[in-house]
Amino acid sequence: MRITDIIIKKREGENLTKEEINYFVNGYTQGKITDYQASALLMAICIKGMNEEETENLTFAIRDSGEIVDLSPIDGIKIDKHSTGGVGDKTTLIVAPLVAALGIKVAKMSGRGLGHTGGTVDKLESIPGFKTALTKEEFFAAVNSAGLAVSGQSGNLAPADKKLYALRDVTGTVDNHSLIVSSIMGKKLSSGADGIGLDVKVGSGSFNKNKAAAEKLSQAMVKIGKAAGKKTAALLTDMDAPLGKAIGNSLEVKEAIEVLNGGGDGALVAVCLELAALMLHLGGKGSVDACRDKAAKTLKEGSALQALINMVDAQGGDSSYITNPEKFAAAKYIHPILSDRDGYMTHCNAKEYGKAALILGAGRETKADEIDHSAGIVLEKRRGDKVNKGDVIAYLHTNREKAVEEAEKIILSSTHIEKEPPSAVPLIHGIVM
Ligand code: URA
Repeated sequence: MRITDIIIKKREGENLTKEEINYFVNGYTQGKITDYQASALLMAICIKGMNEEETENLTFAIRDSGEIVDLSPIDGIKIDKHSTGGVGDKTTLIVAPLVAALGIKVAKMSGRGLGHTGGTVDKLESIPGFKTALTKEEFFAAVNSAGLAVSGQSGNLAPADKKLYALRDVTGTVDNHSLIVSSIMGKKLSSGADGIGLDVKVGSGSFNKNKAAAEKLSQAMVKIGKAAGKKTAALLTDMDAPLGKAIGNSLEVKEAIEVLNGGGDGALVAVCLELAALMLHLGGKGSVDACRDKAAKTLKEGSALQALINMVDAQGGDSSYITNPEKFAAAKYIHPILSDRDGYMTHCNAKEYGKAALILGAGRETKADEIDHSAGIVLEKRRGDKVNKGDVIAYLHTNREKAVEEAEKIILSSTHIEKEPPSAVPLIHGIVM
């Protein structure tokens, strides 16, 4: 087999065989196929597309490119969760302890934030002492004792995706249905859980700009998950506006603690309850409706907060920050952004808010950048809220005084305040079982 023939075949719009796809994925992972050849094939895939069978074969080739974790040392049913990424998306910090409190084990490998989206590992690392680089034995022990654990992605899982994703990022080839499906599911299928609950975001802060694209992606991922023998389902949730009030690492941890204490933003709580219900259902705890009720009750009772405390203790973190969240260091500058008019907030563009948070220090532009855990944005007004002239729309939190002006400009230009209230946008756009 020759890679050049495979590139030409795809360029001409023909379907690739399983053997050709395996040849490409293995050859590229092992360094036998060059970046320029892989780039050419990725671009041909973007232009000509892949059918269902090719997409499934590409997913399994990515899964099989490295280790497939055996979670059998962990007792009980293990359900994983994956979000396609968003702004202010702290659902893992709430949903994982919530389902763990209801008897489902969560052994989760999470990523770091890049660009305008945040990552769970960075958020958890804002808790002093919290260790996300765990050996396999430490990871299993933490899940067995606390019911849940979150670790950074092991280098051995789906190494093909690591290489391919980095290449896609710089060759304009991220945005393709088959490449996204195979990247997400290749990784998830290697992490060993019995089931996978997918949170597929829709809207300006997500790569799915509309519901149809998110539905197509969800259906493909659920089908592949099932073909691989995993219970898989997807929830389509809104990411047109940031989720909840906080954007930025320790700010989001504090907001998650508020929810686990029975309070918090209504939209955030609603999305978390749906996700928890889906994961509990996949874990055999009853119908989605019954699971939603159980999750809501548990959230009020405080056992989910205790599960988060147990996880923080098991991973070496200082859990007094969970019981006393005022201990988190505040940023030096907390700057209010005021509305210059009366009206209703009709739009706050999630992606632009994410960019502003990044400029304030909450994110990283390149993988080597350092995160400032205290930086970010706290929204005081949300889409649909009535706003009076002089009201605070949001507070910017930063240690970079010079970043305030630019971040404020971004927030003001991506926030629309108009005379009429906006029509309601659903938080949950659908479910694919
Ligand atoms: N997230 C991934 O892991 N892969 C993609 O291709 C897109 C989003």
